[in-house]
Amino acid sequence: MRIVLATSNKGKINEFKKLLPTDEVVAFSELLGEMEIIEDADTFKGNAIIKAKTIYDKLNDENAIVISDDSGISVPELNNEPGIYSARYAGQGASDKDNLQKLIDELNKKDIKETAAYYTACIAIVYKGEVYTVHGWMHGSVINKEVGENGFGYDPMFIPTGFDKTFGELSHEIKKEFSHRGKALKLAKKVLEVIV
Ligand code: IMP
Repeated sequence: MRIVLATSNKGKINEFKKLLPTDEVVAFSELLGEMEIIEDADTFKGNAIIKAKTIYDKLNDENAIVISDDSGISVPELNNEPGIYSARYAGQGASDKDNLQKLIDELNKKDIKETAAYYTACIAIVYKGEVYTVHGWMHGSVINKEVGENGFGYDPMFIPTGFDKTFGELSHEIKKEFSHRGKALKLAKKVLEVIV
């Protein structure tokens, strides 16, 4: 199956390619070039739908299968920040490093060394003009430092429940099994089985 990904986030593209090894996974930019999509909804689901529909409409191909992922990390002790603002927590155009450092700074301001956190992913699928959405979550904690080089985004400060290492240190195989994205994608595959 050929799946067009409505994201330009390299970390997500890499994960989707590994999570869908038997499908042809193409980033939208390979077909349409880079473009900025304004994500102005106030939920993960709203933003996932905006991204998938924008790319589906631009492709102008009824049979295209477009998948988007809107995701982020929420910290209950920080009023669930950064949540849907995870990609721009340190400001518009901020890098993953800037955003991770901003979250460390916010924890340090409150003298927090470790606290509960969870990732959310909403995957939207658009096929034959219809929209389908599924969610996945992963719980754990965040620490006030960066450990390890693996993963992307906030992974080097996130420890999944049941482990004592961050996703900066844990392997992709472990992330694949437990991640918000992996769980949402399992459901998305079921939806694709039914609709395609
Ligand atoms: P989006 O592209 O608007 O959905 O923003 C997602 C942002 O959430 C990313 O830029 C990361 O900062 C963060 N994020 C989402 N999923 C992950 C993950 O699996 N690991 C680390 N950070 C993530």
